[in-house]
Amino acid sequence: MARSHMSFACSECGAAAPRWAGRCGACGSWNTLVEEARPAPPGAAPRSAPPARAVPLAEAGGPEWAPRPTGLDEVDRVLGGGLVPGSVTLLGGEPGVGKSTLLLQVLARERRRGLLVAAEESPQQVRLRAERLGAVSAHLWVVAATDVDEIEAQVGDVEPELLVVDSIQAVADAATSGPPGSVGQVRAAAARLVRLAKDRSLTTVLVGHVTKDGSLAGPRVLEHLVDTVLTFGGDRHHALRLLRAPKHRFGPTTELGLFEMGEAGLEAVADPGHLFLSDRREGLAGSVVVPALDGRRPLLVELQALVTPGPPAGSGIAPRRSAQGLDGGRLAMLVAVLDRRAGVKLSGFDVYAMAVGGARVTDPGADLPLALALASAADGAPLPPSLVACGEVGLGGELRQVPRLAARLGEAARLGFREALVPPSAPDPPPGLIARRAATLEEALRQRLPPAA
Ligand code: TYD
Ligand code: MG
Repeated sequence: MARSHMSFACSECGAAAPRWAGRCGACGSWNTLVEEARPAPPGAAPRSAPPARAVPLAEAGGPEWAPRPTGLDEVDRVLGGGLVPGSVTLLGGEPGVGKSTLLLQVLARERRRGLLVAAEESPQQVRLRAERLGAVSAHLWVVAATDVDEIEAQVGDVEPELLVVDSIQAVADAATSGPPGSVGQVRAAAARLVRLAKDRSLTTVLVGHVTKDGSLAGPRVLEHLVDTVLTFGGDRHHALRLLRAPKHRFGPTTELGLFEMGEAGLEAVADPGHLFLSDRREGLAGSVVVPALDGRRPLLVELQALVTPGPPAGSGIAPRRSAQGLDGGRLAMLVAVLDRRAGVKLSGFDVYAMAVGGARVTDPGADLPLALALASAADGAPLPPSLVACGEVGLGGELRQVPRLAARLGEAARLGFREALVPPSAPDPPPGLIARRAATLEEALRQRLPPAA
């Protein structure tokens, strides 16, 4: 029976399932299980690697794991130095975010021979883009190919040291059934490219499109196959792009790389200080700046709140709680804490809150400034423009420390802020910045009243 050769896999998390179900038992996603050919039993495939042999730990690893700089500083920052020779990296992101652009820029900087497998575009299209980016390099080879056998043959001919496959969803393995882009195909093609990378010590980067509705076999399926997962994201309507490494076998997973998409491709944002503050209007009620943390990097972001009369009492309609770039659950919690612990009544009002400039702030340090912004929006009294606030708010209305507060205050001082509203246990601020300490939200709200001296 043909069916007995099939199994199912979740296109979201990659978990295998013996039979179809409406919901993935591993990650809980709905309608993500798809049929795929059962992988060959262990031992059936020829082993390309020699048998395992134990070594003393002190002699394991070693210098061959040294990263090589890509030449793009923001990429190297995220990777902890660069791409490790022979490693496989998956670059995920939504279509149009700039994955092809970023990799073309990396390939153009590369001094060694690079091969770009364009599985979605013709070499002419790649050439045109490269001309716009000033990325037509003598070391860069390009081939339009969608078959793994073809890619292997091209790698044999060109002998590159860096291979980029754009995208893995467009590549198919002839020995595997199913259409390109299906979980089985994507996984089989990626597994062969990983083996190729390890056999030839070929540094490999695979591009994977992620869509919000999960209709493509997402990179989640591939995460456990590769050494490093990079995600490239950002708000489509803003130029800012953020590069992160949620999985990295050879370095940090906490660094953040920042780029701006411009006319000539992606440009590094080396000093993000003013990024989210450049169009700020001072003296606006409901506006507070938070030294937020993204990875290990402090970023100053303006938070804004607006409070307007909600639906009439007794109408049965719940007032709006709208959070943009902020966590909606956190906003609802702060509205409740403001009500019960600080006497700021927002129950009859619609509440809008946002992080300005396409920033996404999920850091608990944004609790206090968001609560201040809400209170300020409610009573119309602006906060001093030279103030930053940072701290987590507990359900009791108490203020708590957050990680790396010293680094955050340092960045705030560098950008010219003069006061910081912080929890009692906060470290001493750097010169030029005055710490106003408050133990509770109520105390913090009282502190904001006297304007800055
Ligand atoms: P692209 O790298 O093709 O995205 P992906 O590979 O992730 O699908 O880039 C997509 C967008 O970037 C596209 O809408 C055009 C824009 N863009 C620029 O604004 N400037 C540039 O120099 C380039 C090359 C692209
Ligand atoms: Mg692309």
